[in-house]
Amino acid sequence: MQGAGPRDFVVVANRLPIDLVEQPDNGPARWQRSPGGLVTALEPVLRSVDGSWVGWTGTAGAALDPFVEDGLTLHPVQLDEHEVAEYYEGFANSTIWPLYHDAVVAPTFRREWWHAYQQVNRRFAEAASLAAAPGATVWVHDYQLQLVPQMLRELRPDVRIGFFLHIPFPPPELFLQLPWRRATIEGLLGADLVGFHLPGGAENFRYLARRLLGLPSTHRAEGGLIEFGTRRVRVGAYPISVDAVRLRDSSAEASTVLRAEQIRAELGDPEVFLLGVDRLDYTKGIELRIEALRELFQEGVLDPDKTVMVQLATPSRERLAAYASLRDVVERVVGRINGEFGRLRGPVVHYLHRPVARDELVAMYTGADVMLVTPLRDGMNLVAKEYVACHGDGTGALVLSEFAGAAAELRRALLVNPHDLEAVKNAILSAVRFGDPGLTRRMRSMHDQVMTHDIDRWTRSFLDDLRTA
Ligand code: ADP
Ligand code: F6P
Repeated sequence: MQGAGPRDFVVVANRLPIDLVEQPDNGPARWQRSPGGLVTALEPVLRSVDGSWVGWTGTAGAALDPFVEDGLTLHPVQLDEHEVAEYYEGFANSTIWPLYHDAVVAPTFRREWWHAYQQVNRRFAEAASLAAAPGATVWVHDYQLQLVPQMLRELRPDVRIGFFLHIPFPPPELFLQLPWRRATIEGLLGADLVGFHLPGGAENFRYLARRLLGLPSTHRAEGGLIEFGTRRVRVGAYPISVDAVRLRDSSAEASTVLRAEQIRAELGDPEVFLLGVDRLDYTKGIELRIEALRELFQEGVLDPDKTVMVQLATPSRERLAAYASLRDVVERVVGRINGEFGRLRGPVVHYLHRPVARDELVAMYTGADVMLVTPLRDGMNLVAKEYVACHGDGTGALVLSEFAGAAAELRRALLVNPHDLEAVKNAILSAVRFGDPGLTRRMRSMHDQVMTHDIDRWTRSFLDDLRTA
């Protein structure tokens, strides 16, 4: 293991894999795992290559030197309060996030947020430039840092730059609303390879490069290259995945199986155990699935005395109004269903507004009969793949929104349009037909898909293409 000096491989992402969290009692701040799929996916990648990670600590004002923590070399980028408000909460999460997720909440366009986004992207590019050895590979991630590839190329023409977008890349009619649309496409084109989850995202990007910048591109079959000045930028689809072997093995461990049984016992040994696992985000469709369950109870087709749901909801972006009002909505529907159908011995929906430890999460996946994944729009959704990786024995059922990127691969899930409540209800009813050999076949086939398309394969395919781009 080297120290914190320049490396041949550098990951650049908005957040470090660990967040510095202030304690409510003014105790010393402590590090905890950062939320979200990006960290889940990239942490094993970085461990396997011994590179370094450039990112924000999750807290305003903390200026820290590079350091090594739990075997990972971390280069903190500092943001002040104003930048957290305008770059992170503003441009990243109130302009780009809703715009790229089908505008399920109206995006807000503010010039001062754009200026903060440019300023902070420049700081990330400078930090990446310092962290990268001559000729290094720098892998930039996600919608918070779309300008970094171009800025880094200006600073360091010697490095090879990859960019991967972890959220959907929207259709032109939405993207074209962005007042800074040309600059955003130019920013991304600083990379040698621009990757998306799905071919549709890559197509949208090629179309926009042609329409906004007049740049021709070759067909996907010929490498999907965009001619940009003297350079050719490769564009492709790389569906991200999970550490499938690790999940499969840990779900089969005796301690996990025992804990899964204990969880069921703690829930009152229900006949049906349904599970939802999400960041508390308005794209995830959490309230829809609870409403579908309530109607099934109300109609008498599902028995609330024999059914329990657990909904884990990691707090996310809590200072934003759209997230605060989503929390109110979710807590209202949870309160309503429990008020109508709960018993003195316990509620029908257990709602935990906090992250849970990884081992506990794997035990929940292992023990749950039905996984409910109903986003209105999601780039991939790793939760769906994590659940499937934990069900190699063919047990369990996955209800999955058509609008999650994962639906492109998990074709044997019980696919639903989450806007269609009757469809969600019918999918839940199909999922609880225990003993149906069709369900076992579906789960086995999805499990094979996830085992053969895991995070290693994703990393190799992106980095191999970047090497030859
Ligand atoms: P996103 O990146 O939008 O948050 P994903 O489904 O792709 O969505 O990834 C979420 C990741 O966070 C998964 O790895 C999941 O296991 C983890 N996660 C989500 N909720 C919790 C929770 N309450 N406790 C622990 N981990 C969680
Ligand atoms: O791609 C989804 C994502 O935005 C990731 O960038 C991040 O891992 C996750 O959601 C969590 O979001 P935030 O960093 O805003 O808490």
